[in-house]
Amino acid sequence: MKTVIEPFRIRMIEPIVMTTREERERLIREAGYNPFLLPAEHVLIDLVTDSGTSALSTRQWSSMLGADESFTGSRSFYRFQDAVRALFGHEYVLPCHQGRAAENLLSRALLRPGDIVYANTLFSTTRANIESVGAEGRDLPTPEATDSSSLFPFKGNIDTAGLERGLASAGEGRVRFVVLTVTENSRGGQPVSLANIEAASEACRRYKVPLLLDAARFAENAFLIKLKEPAYKDWAPREIARRMFSLVDGVFMSLKKDGLGNSGGLITLKDRDWAEKVRVQLLVMEGVPSAGGLAGRDLESLATALDEMLNESYLDYRIASTGRLGRALDEAGVPVIKPFGAHAIYIDGRAFCPHLPDEQLPAWSLSVALYVESGVRSWETGNVMRGRFDSASGTWTWPDMDLMRLAVPRRVYTQSQLDYAAEAVIELYAKRESIRGLRYVYRPAQLPQFVATFEPA
Ligand code: F0G
Repeated sequence: MKTVIEPFRIRMIEPIVMTTREERERLIREAGYNPFLLPAEHVLIDLVTDSGTSALSTRQWSSMLGADESFTGSRSFYRFQDAVRALFGHEYVLPCHQGRAAENLLSRALLRPGDIVYANTLFSTTRANIESVGAEGRDLPTPEATDSSSLFPFKGNIDTAGLERGLASAGEGRVRFVVLTVTENSRGGQPVSLANIEAASEACRRYKVPLLLDAARFAENAFLIKLKEPAYKDWAPREIARRMFSLVDGVFMSLKKDGLGNSGGLITLKDRDWAEKVRVQLLVMEGVPSAGGLAGRDLESLATALDEMLNESYLDYRIASTGRLGRALDEAGVPVIKPFGAHAIYIDGRAFCPHLPDEQLPAWSLSVALYVESGVRSWETGNVMRGRFDSASGTWTWPDMDLMRLAVPRRVYTQSQLDYAAEAVIELYAKRESIRGLRYVYRPAQLPQFVATFEPA
């Protein structure tokens, strides 16, 4: 059979409500033209993020009912710790409330002003946490990552030659650690190959610099390795994931993505000294080491999900459903980033809106127009998220790509709902010259995409 079906039944539903175009025009104006600031009940199909938005399984709910809510040392924590150790193979397991909390703990515990962190591509919150302690994050994406005509299957790779040069030229101890974000989330949701993780691991070992994974979407990365890296075509996703983790010194991650959690984050480390330093920060900022600010029921749900997220028929469906959305857009001529990843489809804002200069934020303006046209909410990983303003010179540095992202929540939307979203984008593409540019009204220096406001330019 060629149709890939959802490998589950839906027995609990949540109604969604259609708004009128006039209502949406008012709502987006009241939200300062920032889709992130819209009340979610006025969104028809919410593709703003795949984070914390998963549908839970009956197994997750039933394990939550049996949770132990003891303040410390709960049975639920031990179950979580056992499941994490069995999969990740790292001794020290430190839960926290979400991904950026893990980034904050690591940054405070391990980084000093002037330190450098190399990465394939850091997610915006990771970069902000690194910078908040005076250290610097430097991206070294593989050259194919910014070539929109390239169909290279592992555009998430780190540029190993660049990493080698960086490690060789930095002074002793200046590179505190190296990060591989799997899958990356700024230039198309692209995976990292196992060969690339191996090469980075080997270089880091030679220079005695620890290698960490930002593993928010490691299960999807593992499945894309299975599909695209011939040496692993017969491996189970779980075996591939274990191989990925065996090559690194630790992991930090949001458990709200592949982790199928509505909240949750995690740090795993091999090194006891680093784990001690992180634990001190954890106690100050997150909670006791056996909870990290999570309820026992969260830990139960997450422990169960560590199994579900690597289920092959689930991952097969996941890739098929995101790919179908991407293909529908591609076939209609919409400029999408290829190859398609797993968690989202990214649209090239500059190519979609060639009439808008970078200052008028093409991908962001496209995201706003899509909501007004259809009630579909998307987000941006482009000029707003990654643009930098130098107040001394009054000039902007725009990122290599200005993308609008349609992120697909896990196990939530049906095929026809995603078809609707595709149709909405395609209809908008037919009248793309009508999309009006926007300019900033309010822009905080850090993480503007969450709170900035805009007005028509
Ligand atoms: N790392 C990556 C690769 C992410 O995509 C995110 C969050 C984080 C870290 C931070 O995790 O949200 O749990 O604090 N990404 C969300 C998104 C916000 O929409 O892509 P968090």
